Amino acid sequence: MRAVDIIQKKRDGLELSSQEIEWLIEGYVAGTVPDYQMSAFAMAVYFKGMTTREISDLTMTMVGTGQQFDLSAISGIKVDKHSTGGVGDKVTLILAPLVASFGVPVAKMSGRGLGHTGGTIDKLESVKGYQVERSQEDFIKQVQDIGLSVIGQSDKLVKADKLLYALRDVTATVDTIPLIASSVMSKKIAAGADSILLDVTVGEGAFMKNLEDARILARTMVDLGKAVGRRTVAVITDMSQPLGTSIGNRLEILEALDILQGKGRADITEFVCELAQIMLDLANVQKTIPEIREHLTNGAALKKFEEMIQAQGGDVEDLYRPSKAAYVVEVTATQAGYITELPAMEFGLFAMRLGAGRAVKSDDLDYETGIVFEKKVGDKVEIGEVFAKIYSNEKISQELVTEFQKNVKIGNESVAVSEIIEVIS
Ligand code: URA
Repeated sequence: MRAVDIIQKKRDGLELSSQEIEWLIEGYVAGTVPDYQMSAFAMAVYFKGMTTREISDLTMTMVGTGQQFDLSAISGIKVDKHSTGGVGDKVTLILAPLVASFGVPVAKMSGRGLGHTGGTIDKLESVKGYQVERSQEDFIKQVQDIGLSVIGQSDKLVKADKLLYALRDVTATVDTIPLIASSVMSKKIAAGADSILLDVTVGEGAFMKNLEDARILARTMVDLGKAVGRRTVAVITDMSQPLGTSIGNRLEILEALDILQGKGRADITEFVCELAQIMLDLANVQKTIPEIREHLTNGAALKKFEEMIQAQGGDVEDLYRPSKAAYVVEVTATQAGYITELPAMEFGLFAMRLGAGRAVKSDDLDYETGIVFEKKVGDKVEIGEVFAKIYSNEKISQELVTEFQKNVKIGNESVAVSEIIEVIS
Protein backbone atom coordinates (compact mmCIF):
# COMPACT_ATOMS: atom_id res chain seq x y z
CA MET A 1 0.00 0.00 0.00
CA ARG A 2 1.00 3.62 -0.50
CA ALA A 3 -0.10 6.56 1.65
CA VAL A 4 -0.59 8.70 -1.44
CA ASP A 5 -3.21 6.29 -2.82
CA ILE A 6 -5.13 6.28 0.48
CA ILE A 7 -5.03 10.10 0.63
CA GLN A 8 -6.24 10.31 -2.96
CA LYS A 9 -9.07 7.84 -2.35
CA LYS A 10 -10.30 9.89 0.61
CA ARG A 11 -9.76 13.15 -1.27
CA ASP A 12 -12.08 11.79 -3.98
CA GLY A 13 -14.74 10.96 -1.39
CA LEU A 14 -14.41 7.17 -1.51
CA GLU A 15 -14.75 4.80 1.43
CA LEU A 16 -11.50 3.33 2.77
CA SER A 17 -11.17 -0.32 3.65
CA SER A 18 -10.36 -1.46 7.21
CA GLN A 19 -6.92 -2.58 5.99
CA GLU A 20 -6.16 0.83 4.46
CA ILE A 21 -7.08 2.64 7.69
CA GLU A 22 -5.02 0.22 9.76
CA TRP A 23 -2.02 0.48 7.44
CA LEU A 24 -2.07 4.28 7.51
CA ILE A 25 -2.47 4.72 11.29
CA GLU A 26 0.01 2.02 12.22
CA GLY A 27 2.48 3.44 9.68
CA TYR A 28 2.04 6.91 11.16
CA VAL A 29 2.77 5.68 14.69
CA ALA A 30 5.75 3.63 13.43
CA GLY A 31 7.11 6.72 11.64
CA THR A 32 6.90 5.27 8.13
CA VAL A 33 4.02 7.60 7.19
CA PRO A 34 5.35 11.15 7.60
CA ASP A 35 3.53 14.13 9.13
CA TYR A 36 2.97 15.79 5.75
CA GLN A 37 1.04 12.83 4.39
CA MET A 38 -0.96 12.48 7.60
CA SER A 39 -1.81 16.21 7.42
CA ALA A 40 -3.07 15.79 3.86
CA PHE A 41 -5.13 12.81 4.99
CA ALA A 42 -6.64 14.75 7.92
CA MET A 43 -7.59 17.57 5.56
CA ALA A 44 -9.17 15.09 3.13
CA VAL A 45 -11.24 13.72 6.05
CA TYR A 46 -12.16 17.28 7.01
CA PHE A 47 -13.68 17.88 3.58
CA LYS A 48 -15.01 14.42 2.68
CA GLY A 49 -15.93 12.94 6.05
CA MET A 50 -15.99 9.25 6.93
CA THR A 51 -18.67 6.59 7.05
CA THR A 52 -19.72 5.07 10.39
CA ARG A 53 -17.73 1.95 9.55
CA GLU A 54 -14.61 3.98 8.73
CA ILE A 55 -14.88 5.94 12.00
CA SER A 56 -15.27 2.71 13.93
CA ASP A 57 -12.20 1.18 12.23
CA LEU A 58 -10.21 4.36 12.80
CA THR A 59 -11.16 4.41 16.49
CA MET A 60 -10.34 0.76 17.14
CA THR A 61 -7.07 0.98 15.20
CA MET A 62 -6.14 3.99 17.35
CA VAL A 63 -7.00 2.06 20.53
CA GLY A 64 -4.56 -0.63 19.38
CA THR A 65 -1.66 1.84 19.14
CA GLY A 66 -1.08 1.80 22.87
CA GLN A 67 -1.70 0.16 26.18
CA GLN A 68 -5.26 -0.53 27.35
CA PHE A 69 -6.01 -0.05 31.03
CA ASP A 70 -7.58 -3.00 32.78
CA LEU A 71 -9.70 -1.68 35.65
CA SER A 72 -11.24 -5.06 36.48
CA ALA A 73 -9.39 -5.15 39.83
CA ILE A 74 -11.66 -2.30 40.98
CA SER A 75 -15.02 -3.64 42.09
CA GLY A 76 -18.24 -2.01 40.92
CA ILE A 77 -19.17 -0.22 37.71
CA LYS A 78 -16.40 2.24 36.87
CA VAL A 79 -17.63 5.46 35.29
CA ASP A 80 -15.70 7.98 33.22
CA LYS A 81 -16.57 11.34 31.74
CA HIS A 82 -15.18 13.43 28.88
CA SER A 83 -15.90 16.90 27.61
CA THR A 84 -15.17 17.96 24.05
CA GLY A 85 -13.77 21.17 25.47
CA GLY A 86 -14.82 24.52 26.73
CA VAL A 87 -14.11 27.76 28.52
CA GLY A 88 -14.35 27.80 32.33
CA ASP A 89 -15.13 24.08 32.26
CA LYS A 90 -14.33 22.96 35.79
CA VAL A 91 -17.06 20.29 35.79
CA THR A 92 -14.75 17.31 36.41
CA LEU A 93 -13.40 18.94 39.59
CA ILE A 94 -16.90 18.86 41.08
CA LEU A 95 -18.60 15.99 39.29
CA ALA A 96 -15.92 13.35 39.88
CA PRO A 97 -15.85 13.69 43.71
CA LEU A 98 -19.63 14.17 43.80
CA VAL A 99 -20.25 10.88 41.99
CA ALA A 100 -17.51 9.14 44.00
CA SER A 101 -19.17 10.33 47.22
CA PHE A 102 -22.04 7.92 46.40
CA GLY A 103 -19.61 4.98 46.36
CA VAL A 104 -19.34 4.81 42.56
CA PRO A 105 -15.68 4.46 41.53
CA VAL A 106 -14.43 7.25 39.26
CA ALA A 107 -11.18 6.53 37.41
CA LYS A 108 -10.56 9.47 35.15
CA MET A 109 -7.83 10.62 32.80
CA SER A 110 -7.99 14.28 31.82
CA GLY A 111 -6.20 16.53 29.38
CA ARG A 112 -4.45 19.89 29.29
CA GLY A 113 -5.81 23.10 27.87
CA LEU A 114 -4.90 24.52 24.52
CA GLY A 115 -5.90 27.77 22.83
CA HIS A 116 -9.10 29.22 24.23
CA THR A 117 -10.04 26.00 26.07
CA GLY A 118 -8.85 24.99 29.54
CA GLY A 119 -7.80 21.56 30.80
CA THR A 120 -8.61 19.84 34.10
CA ILE A 121 -5.03 18.66 34.57
CA ASP A 122 -3.67 22.23 34.46
CA LYS A 123 -6.25 23.28 37.05
CA LEU A 124 -5.28 20.45 39.39
CA GLU A 125 -1.60 21.26 38.92
CA SER A 126 -2.27 24.74 40.28
CA VAL A 127 -2.58 22.99 43.67
CA LYS A 128 0.88 22.71 45.24
CA GLY A 129 2.24 19.16 45.06
CA TYR A 130 -0.63 17.55 43.12
CA GLN A 131 0.77 14.69 41.01
CA VAL A 132 -0.95 14.13 37.68
CA GLU A 133 1.34 11.33 36.54
CA ARG A 134 0.65 7.95 38.13
CA SER A 135 1.44 4.41 37.12
CA GLN A 136 -1.47 2.16 36.22
CA GLU A 137 -0.94 0.28 39.52
CA ASP A 138 -1.05 3.46 41.64
CA PHE A 139 -4.08 4.77 39.75
CA ILE A 140 -5.98 1.52 40.33
CA LYS A 141 -4.90 1.30 43.97
CA GLN A 142 -6.10 4.82 44.68
CA VAL A 143 -9.51 4.12 43.13
CA GLN A 144 -9.70 0.92 45.19
CA ASP A 145 -8.78 2.85 48.35
CA ILE A 146 -10.77 6.07 48.05
CA GLY A 147 -12.95 5.54 44.99
CA LEU A 148 -11.51 8.44 42.98
CA SER A 149 -8.50 9.47 40.94
CA VAL A 150 -8.00 12.11 38.24
CA ILE A 151 -4.70 11.78 36.40
CA GLY A 152 -3.16 13.04 33.17
CA GLN A 153 -3.51 11.11 29.96
CA SER A 154 -0.89 8.35 30.08
CA ASP A 155 1.71 8.55 27.28
CA LYS A 156 1.32 4.82 26.86
CA LEU A 157 -2.34 5.03 25.82
CA VAL A 158 -3.46 5.66 22.22
CA LYS A 159 -0.12 6.82 20.83
CA ALA A 160 -1.83 7.65 17.53
CA ASP A 161 -4.00 10.30 19.21
CA LYS A 162 -1.06 12.03 20.84
CA LEU A 163 0.67 12.40 17.47
CA LEU A 164 -2.44 13.09 15.46
CA TYR A 165 -3.92 15.64 17.86
CA ALA A 166 -0.72 17.71 17.84
CA LEU A 167 -0.72 17.57 14.03
CA ARG A 168 -4.41 18.50 13.75
CA ASP A 169 -3.87 21.39 16.09
CA VAL A 170 -1.43 23.05 13.67
CA THR A 171 -3.14 22.07 10.42
CA ALA A 172 -6.67 23.39 11.11
CA THR A 173 -8.15 19.89 11.23
CA VAL A 174 -9.36 19.66 14.84
CA ASP A 175 -13.00 20.56 14.32
CA THR A 176 -14.17 17.65 12.23
CA ILE A 177 -16.56 14.98 13.52
CA PRO A 178 -14.73 11.75 12.44
CA LEU A 179 -11.45 12.92 13.94
CA ILE A 180 -12.96 14.25 17.19
CA ALA A 181 -15.09 11.13 17.66
CA SER A 182 -12.16 8.75 17.09
CA SER A 183 -9.83 10.86 19.26
CA VAL A 184 -12.22 11.00 22.22
CA MET A 185 -13.54 7.46 22.01
CA SER A 186 -10.17 5.76 21.43
CA LYS A 187 -8.98 7.34 24.70
CA LYS A 188 -12.15 6.46 26.59
CA ILE A 189 -12.15 2.87 25.37
CA ALA A 190 -8.43 2.42 26.18
CA ALA A 191 -8.91 3.97 29.64
CA GLY A 192 -11.05 0.99 30.58
CA ALA A 193 -14.16 2.36 32.34
CA ASP A 194 -17.42 0.40 32.02
CA SER A 195 -19.64 3.46 31.51
CA ILE A 196 -18.94 6.78 29.86
CA LEU A 197 -20.64 10.17 30.08
CA LEU A 198 -19.77 12.44 27.16
CA ASP A 199 -20.25 16.19 27.43
CA VAL A 200 -20.54 17.47 23.87
CA THR A 201 -20.23 21.23 23.98
CA VAL A 202 -21.92 23.41 21.38
CA GLY A 203 -21.76 27.10 20.63
CA GLU A 204 -19.33 29.91 20.02
CA GLY A 205 -16.67 28.56 22.40
CA ALA A 206 -16.90 24.90 21.31
CA PHE A 207 -15.59 22.89 18.35
CA MET A 208 -19.20 22.21 17.32
CA LYS A 209 -20.75 25.55 16.45
CA ASN A 210 -24.28 24.34 15.76
CA LEU A 211 -26.71 21.88 17.33
CA GLU A 212 -27.00 19.71 14.23
CA ASP A 213 -23.25 18.95 14.19
CA ALA A 214 -23.20 18.46 17.97
CA ARG A 215 -26.00 15.88 17.61
CA ILE A 216 -24.09 13.96 14.92
CA LEU A 217 -20.90 13.98 17.00
CA ALA A 218 -22.80 12.84 20.12
CA ARG A 219 -24.62 10.05 18.28
CA THR A 220 -21.38 8.87 16.60
CA MET A 221 -19.54 8.66 19.93
CA VAL A 222 -22.42 7.00 21.79
CA ASP A 223 -22.63 4.34 19.07
CA LEU A 224 -18.86 3.78 19.17
CA GLY A 225 -19.00 3.24 22.93
CA LYS A 226 -21.98 0.91 22.79
CA ALA A 227 -20.40 -1.14 19.99
CA VAL A 228 -17.62 -2.16 22.36
CA GLY A 229 -19.93 -2.88 25.28
CA ARG A 230 -19.57 0.38 27.20
CA ARG A 231 -22.72 2.04 28.47
CA THR A 232 -22.44 5.49 26.93
CA VAL A 233 -24.59 8.60 27.21
CA ALA A 234 -23.90 12.03 25.71
CA VAL A 235 -25.24 15.37 26.88
CA ILE A 236 -25.15 18.31 24.54
CA THR A 237 -24.29 21.39 26.60
CA ASP A 238 -24.15 25.09 25.94
CA MET A 239 -20.75 26.69 25.39
CA SER A 240 -21.89 30.00 23.99
CA GLN A 241 -20.80 31.65 27.25
CA PRO A 242 -18.11 30.52 29.73
CA LEU A 243 -19.26 27.83 32.14
CA GLY A 244 -19.79 29.05 35.70
CA THR A 245 -18.24 32.27 36.92
CA SER A 246 -14.50 31.86 36.50
CA ILE A 247 -11.87 31.23 33.85
CA GLY A 248 -8.29 30.49 34.93
CA ASN A 249 -6.67 27.65 36.83
CA ARG A 250 -6.53 28.79 40.46
CA LEU A 251 -9.75 30.77 40.07
CA GLU A 252 -11.58 27.70 38.77
CA ILE A 253 -10.29 25.58 41.68
CA LEU A 254 -11.76 28.18 44.04
CA GLU A 255 -15.10 28.18 42.21
CA ALA A 256 -15.16 24.36 42.29
CA LEU A 257 -14.56 24.50 46.07
CA ASP A 258 -17.46 26.93 46.45
CA ILE A 259 -19.77 24.58 44.54
CA LEU A 260 -18.48 21.59 46.49
CA GLN A 261 -19.54 23.46 49.65
CA GLY A 262 -22.98 24.29 48.26
CA LYS A 263 -22.03 27.96 47.87
CA GLY A 264 -21.81 28.12 44.08
CA ARG A 265 -24.09 29.83 41.59
CA ALA A 266 -27.40 28.00 41.37
CA ASP A 267 -27.24 27.38 37.60
CA ILE A 268 -23.87 25.60 37.49
CA THR A 269 -24.68 23.75 40.73
CA GLU A 270 -27.89 22.43 39.16
CA PHE A 271 -26.03 21.55 35.96
CA VAL A 272 -23.42 19.49 37.79
CA CYS A 273 -26.13 17.73 39.82
CA GLU A 274 -27.95 16.80 36.60
CA LEU A 275 -24.73 15.40 35.12
CA ALA A 276 -24.10 13.49 38.35
CA GLN A 277 -27.58 11.98 38.15
CA ILE A 278 -26.83 10.65 34.63
CA MET A 279 -23.39 9.39 35.65
CA LEU A 280 -24.78 7.64 38.72
CA ASP A 281 -27.52 6.08 36.60
CA LEU A 282 -24.78 4.74 34.29
CA ALA A 283 -23.52 2.89 37.36
CA ASN A 284 -27.06 1.68 38.23
CA VAL A 285 -27.39 4.10 41.16
CA GLN A 286 -30.63 6.08 41.08
CA LYS A 287 -30.68 9.33 43.04
CA THR A 288 -32.91 12.39 42.95
CA ILE A 289 -31.46 15.85 42.36
CA PRO A 290 -32.14 16.90 46.01
CA GLU A 291 -30.32 13.77 47.21
CA ILE A 292 -27.38 14.63 44.99
CA ARG A 293 -27.39 18.30 46.01
CA GLU A 294 -27.25 17.22 49.64
CA HIS A 295 -23.75 15.80 49.05
CA LEU A 296 -22.68 19.34 48.14
CA THR A 297 -24.19 20.91 51.24
CA ASN A 298 -23.25 18.21 53.77
CA GLY A 299 -19.55 18.13 52.82
CA ALA A 300 -19.54 14.56 51.42
CA ALA A 301 -18.34 15.57 47.93
CA LEU A 302 -15.84 18.08 49.33
CA LYS A 303 -14.38 15.40 51.61
CA LYS A 304 -13.86 13.12 48.56
CA PHE A 305 -12.15 15.94 46.67
CA GLU A 306 -9.80 16.65 49.58
CA GLU A 307 -9.06 12.92 49.92
CA MET A 308 -8.08 12.80 46.25
CA ILE A 309 -5.91 15.92 46.51
CA GLN A 310 -4.10 14.40 49.49
CA ALA A 311 -3.75 10.95 47.94
CA GLN A 312 -2.06 12.51 44.91
CA GLY A 313 0.42 14.52 46.97
CA GLY A 314 -1.47 17.83 46.93
CA ASP A 315 -1.38 20.33 49.78
CA VAL A 316 -4.92 20.72 51.14
CA GLU A 317 -4.09 24.09 52.72
CA ASP A 318 -2.83 25.40 49.40
CA LEU A 319 -6.05 24.18 47.81
CA TYR A 320 -8.00 26.98 49.51
CA ARG A 321 -5.41 29.69 48.88
CA PRO A 322 -6.79 32.75 47.05
CA SER A 323 -5.23 33.83 43.75
CA LYS A 324 -1.89 35.61 44.15
CA ALA A 325 -2.39 37.73 41.01
CA ALA A 326 -0.66 41.10 41.46
CA TYR A 327 -3.52 43.11 39.94
CA VAL A 328 -7.27 42.67 40.29
CA VAL A 329 -9.16 45.08 38.05
CA GLU A 330 -12.90 45.58 38.32
CA VAL A 331 -14.87 45.87 35.08
CA THR A 332 -18.07 47.89 35.15
CA ALA A 333 -21.12 47.85 32.89
CA THR A 334 -21.25 50.68 30.37
CA GLN A 335 -25.03 50.52 30.15
CA ALA A 336 -27.96 49.22 32.17
CA GLY A 337 -30.00 46.17 31.11
CA TYR A 338 -29.62 42.43 30.87
CA ILE A 339 -26.50 40.59 29.74
CA THR A 340 -27.40 38.88 26.48
CA GLU A 341 -24.00 37.65 25.28
CA LEU A 342 -20.69 36.75 26.94
CA PRO A 343 -18.88 35.10 24.02
CA ALA A 344 -16.95 32.13 25.38
CA MET A 345 -14.27 32.12 22.70
CA GLU A 346 -13.42 35.82 23.20
CA PHE A 347 -13.13 35.47 26.96
CA GLY A 348 -11.21 32.20 26.67
CA LEU A 349 -8.69 33.96 24.43
CA PHE A 350 -8.65 36.97 26.76
CA ALA A 351 -7.79 34.69 29.72
CA MET A 352 -5.16 32.97 27.61
CA ARG A 353 -3.47 36.31 26.96
CA LEU A 354 -3.39 36.91 30.73
CA GLY A 355 -1.35 33.70 30.98
CA ALA A 356 -4.17 31.38 32.08
CA GLY A 357 -3.95 29.33 28.86
CA ARG A 358 -1.44 28.27 26.23
CA ALA A 359 -1.26 29.61 22.69
CA VAL A 360 1.14 26.75 21.84
CA LYS A 361 1.85 23.52 23.70
CA SER A 362 5.25 24.68 25.04
CA ASP A 363 3.86 27.85 26.73
CA ASP A 364 4.15 28.10 30.52
CA LEU A 365 0.95 28.82 32.42
CA ASP A 366 0.31 31.50 35.00
CA TYR A 367 -2.01 29.66 37.38
CA GLU A 368 -3.08 32.81 39.24
CA THR A 369 -4.57 34.82 36.38
CA GLY A 370 -7.97 34.83 34.71
CA ILE A 371 -11.45 36.29 34.94
CA VAL A 372 -14.26 36.09 37.50
CA PHE A 373 -17.74 37.07 36.27
CA GLU A 374 -20.15 38.38 38.85
CA LYS A 375 -22.93 38.46 36.25
CA LYS A 376 -23.76 35.97 33.52
CA VAL A 377 -26.10 35.88 30.52
CA GLY A 378 -29.65 36.63 31.67
CA ASP A 379 -28.54 38.68 34.71
CA LYS A 380 -29.51 42.32 35.21
CA VAL A 381 -26.78 44.99 35.46
CA GLU A 382 -26.88 48.65 36.36
CA ILE A 383 -24.71 51.20 34.65
CA GLY A 384 -21.37 51.41 36.49
CA GLU A 385 -21.98 48.15 38.34
CA VAL A 386 -19.03 45.76 38.60
CA PHE A 387 -19.84 42.64 36.59
CA ALA A 388 -16.39 41.05 36.29
CA LYS A 389 -12.88 41.10 37.71
CA ILE A 390 -9.69 40.58 35.76
CA TYR A 391 -6.83 38.85 37.63
CA SER A 392 -3.45 39.61 36.13
CA ASN A 393 0.24 39.67 36.96
CA GLU A 394 0.80 42.51 34.50
CA LYS A 395 -0.71 45.95 34.73
CA ILE A 396 -4.05 46.10 32.88
CA SER A 397 -4.37 49.04 30.49
CA GLN A 398 -7.62 50.96 30.01
CA GLU A 399 -7.64 49.74 26.38
CA LEU A 400 -7.76 46.15 27.58
CA VAL A 401 -10.64 46.94 29.95
CA THR A 402 -12.49 48.63 27.09
CA GLU A 403 -11.88 45.61 24.87
CA PHE A 404 -13.31 43.41 27.62
CA GLN A 405 -16.39 45.63 27.97
CA LYS A 406 -16.98 45.61 24.20
CA ASN A 407 -17.21 41.82 24.19
CA VAL A 408 -20.18 41.92 26.54
CA LYS A 409 -23.58 42.51 24.95
CA ILE A 410 -26.28 44.13 27.06
CA GLY A 411 -29.92 44.33 25.94
CA ASN A 412 -33.30 45.32 27.26
CA GLU A 413 -34.70 41.84 27.79
CA SER A 414 -33.46 38.92 29.80
CA VAL A 415 -32.62 35.78 27.82
CA ALA A 416 -33.22 32.25 29.08
CA VAL A 417 -30.20 30.00 29.49
CA SER A 418 -30.11 26.23 29.61
CA GLU A 419 -26.83 24.39 30.24
CA ILE A 420 -28.06 20.94 29.13
CA ILE A 421 -29.63 21.20 25.70
CA GLU A 422 -30.23 17.52 24.93
CA VAL A 423 -29.39 14.03 26.18
CA ILE A 424 -28.47 11.34 23.63
CA SER A 425 -28.31 7.70 24.69
N1 URA B 1 -11.07 16.46 22.64
C1 URA B 1 -10.33 15.38 22.28
O1 URA B 1 -9.90 14.60 23.12
N2 URA B 1 -10.08 15.19 20.97
C2 URA B 1 -10.52 16.01 20.01
O2 URA B 1 -10.27 15.77 18.87
C3 URA B 1 -11.29 17.15 20.40
C4 URA B 1 -11.56 17.34 21.73
